[in-house]
Amino acid sequence: MIKVAPSILSADFASLGAEAEDIRLGGADYLHFDVMDGRFVPNISIGIPVLKSLRSATDMFIDAHLMILEPIRYAEAFCKAGADLVNVHVEADSEERILDAIDTIKSLGKKAGITLKPATPAEAVLPFIDAVDLILVMTVEPGFGGQSFMVGMLPKIESIRRLIDERHPDCELEVDGGIDAHTSALVKRAGANVLVAGSAVFKSPDRAKAIFDIRNA
Ligand code: DX5
Ligand code: ZN
Repeated sequence: MIKVAPSILSADFASLGAEAEDIRLGGADYLHFDVMDGRFVPNISIGIPVLKSLRSATDMFIDAHLMILEPIRYAEAFCKAGADLVNVHVEADSEERILDAIDTIKSLGKKAGITLKPATPAEAVLPFIDAVDLILVMTVEPGFGGQSFMVGMLPKIESIRRLIDERHPDCELEVDGGIDAHTSALVKRAGANVLVAGSAVFKSPDRAKAIFDIRNA
């Protein structure tokens, strides 16, 4: 099943509760919550108190994408603030400490995901694939919304789809960056099933139609 996960990075931060409600009514499956620390990526966005407020404003499934160094330091706090799934970058710490972060997230009853930057090869998922519920492939360099989709990521999505089918068929395959009604067809064909879209949804005059088009393109 294809899921659409609008990224609130492109929403109106002064009205996040209303923005979440708008995309829920528009048919979104997940709410993608982008966290940036100004170190792992050259930008700063939102964090734990905002997640906590949003949690009390919506019952949507919240997919937190932690673009932060050493995510083990904050994994518990994001789970307790109300994330349903916490994504950590494989590049953000040692393999051992990323596995610790995954264990922490799962021990708190939440789903865990790992994320790969564009330069990180598909094989980087191997130490984690059995332990995670989702793998996120970045299709832009993380840090900013509104960038162009990197078509060169399609073979990596195909490789990870093959690994998932062989080793952990229940694991979801998410893509993030430059997804719209055109690029969604490409990533779905490559094997992705969760599609993050920031500007293509929130900047659209008809968000329900944008979500529909991304799902069905
Ligand atoms: C980028 C973020 C994305 C971003 C996507 O670092 O992880 O989730 O919001 O935005 P669009 O869909 O506009 O590329
Ligand atoms: Zn993201």
